[in-house]
Amino acid sequence: MSDTSRHVDDHQLTVETCCQKYTTQTTPKVTLGFVMRNRSISIIFGSLVLWAVATYFLFLDQQSVGKDQDKDKLSNQISRLEKQVKQQIIINKELLKGIENKRRKKEYEKSNAAHVSIDEIETNKNKKHENKFESVLLQKIENNIDQRKSKSEQKPTQDTYISTETNHESTTLKQKLPDGSPIIAILVVSCNRVTVDRCLEQLIRLRPSKEQFPIIVSQDCDHRQTADVIAKYGNQLLHIKQPDQSDIEIPPKEKKFRGYFKIARHYKWALNQVFVKLGYSTAIIVEDDLDIAPDFYEYFLGTYPLLVNDSSLWCVSAWNDNGKAGLVDEHAPHLLYRTDFFPGLGWMLTRDLWLELASKWPKSYWDDWIRQPEQRKNRACIRPEISRTRTFGKLGVSNGLFFEKHLKYIKLNEQFVPFTKMNLSYLLKDNYDIAFVNQVYQSTVVSYTELKSGNIVAPGPVRIPYYTRQSFKNTTKLLGLMDDFRSGVPRSGYRGVVTFFYNGRRVHLAPSANWSGYDITWS
Ligand SMILES: *[C@@H]1O[C@H](CO)[C@@H](O)[C@H](O)[C@H]1NC(C)=O
Ligand SMILES: *[C@@H]1O[C@H](CO)[C@@H](O)[C@H](O)[C@H]1NC(C)=O
Ligand SMILES: *[C@@H]1O[C@H](CO)[C@@H](O)[C@H](O)[C@H]1NC(C)=O
Ligand SMILES: *[C@@H]1O[C@H](CO)[C@@H](O)[C@H](O)[C@H]1NC(C)=O
Repeated sequence: MSDTSRHVDDHQLTVETCCQKYTTQTTPKVTLGFVMRNRSISIIFGSLVLWAVATYFLFLDQQSVGKDQDKDKLSNQISRLEKQVKQQIIINKELLKGIENKRRKKEYEKSNAAHVSIDEIETNKNKKHENKFESVLLQKIENNIDQRKSKSEQKPTQDTYISTETNHESTTLKQKLPDGSPIIAILVVSCNRVTVDRCLEQLIRLRPSKEQFPIIVSQDCDHRQTADVIAKYGNQLLHIKQPDQSDIEIPPKEKKFRGYFKIARHYKWALNQVFVKLGYSTAIIVEDDLDIAPDFYEYFLGTYPLLVNDSSLWCVSAWNDNGKAGLVDEHAPHLLYRTDFFPGLGWMLTRDLWLELASKWPKSYWDDWIRQPEQRKNRACIRPEISRTRTFGKLGVSNGLFFEKHLKYIKLNEQFVPFTKMNLSYLLKDNYDIAFVNQVYQSTVVSYTELKSGNIVAPGPVRIPYYTRQSFKNTTKLLGLMDDFRSGVPRSGYRGVVTFFYNGRRVHLAPSANWSGYDITWS
């Protein structure tokens, strides 16, 4: 067993490394397309061979009668193998599509002329339909698997239950409603907290449309009571269960962080379901312990065009890491920022990003991993002045102390802001960076003591400079801001600047004006 699955893993690895290479290469387009199609054919062919070998061994086994239990085990293993191969084929197809999309996006940005992109999209659509060869193969594989499944359907394991359910979902992409507005899946990540209903109740009550925001609750941990709670919502949501409950190999030193390993595995599975199996092109990830603001959906809908059009953005987050009541302007719920720090906690991503990350997804600590320069690639997220989520559960993997000291003071927005009707183009990088740098470095320099006393005469925003890691930490402690860095980036920072509100003032805690990038040794 371990031998065969290792083999599949190796296969995946080579495929992935090669495709990543293609994304960074600057070969002429025509050759690239040709090479990619050739590659995909050989990938599919390779996968087919693998599948055939697996089936061959199964038949061999079926002929030699006896030992029912062994046979059962083996056929389970093989059907898992088949599924892996099938999923890999789908992922590869999606990867190719992702590469094409990215190229299109870059070209769109370069040419800046709207009409070009429409033509391009049309021709690309047609190209997709040309790939009949691929889809016929895929169809054959799927039929075969379905047949095999109905033959050996003595004991439907949870595994097969899930996959037959999702087999009926075609992999056609679900991107837009008939009126052209985007479909955004809500992925609720759940495990063993029965309080998930607090989150689900809000998501359903505030949801403007079931069609536009399908809710998918992905449950890990096999927890019966939690499953019952989720099941109560019936067809208002889709309830899927992570079939892989096997033990995870964890390095001895990290045994106490086992939860982080489970979470990473669950995220990978769940995101593959949403983007690959169910075919959604955008999703918002919500953990099972989040309260949401009345304009939660409106916020994501309004910022969606930014995420899609600006390739220097890779997420929209509902969370302000420094969003405590005393540190935000309660009269400015409409205010949004860019941040280099990945906030998580209610965040939107596209399928293109998922396909980029899926191939190298880590075994644990995914949130710190995603913040590393290799993953972030200088991309930013949108974050609000006042959070659109708040966490209510202190029990869980992340430690309770962090909740008591910090998370529970984050203010949840209460006013509805009509983001979809607002002009948010000030958040696009080209507009934002110039205005932001000007505002920060033209502001009056003050000390912490002056800010605290409130005796500042000059109007407008002010700035507290920092030049070292230690002076940053000292100031944040005095002000009650988060003081930590991840891969050198301070929480909620943009270009090294942490912006907040204090004593009625907009304040920038800022490095020197000649700042030229994060120092990853700052932690
Ligand atoms: C982003 O692109 C969409 C089309 O996908 C377009 O309708 C919209 O106007 C663009 N928005 C911005 C802010 O550029
Ligand atoms: C939106 O705001 C930008 C400035 O950020 C401006 O250039 C643009 O004309 C505005 N668009 C509309 C439709 O008002
Ligand atoms: C930070 O504060 C500590 C004491 O709290 C002090 O010793 C140190 O000099 C300060 N460092 C900077 C850079 O301000
Ligand atoms: C940047 O400016 C600071 C003070 O403003 C100075 O100490 C530092 O040497 C400068 N760094 C570079 C690389 O110019």
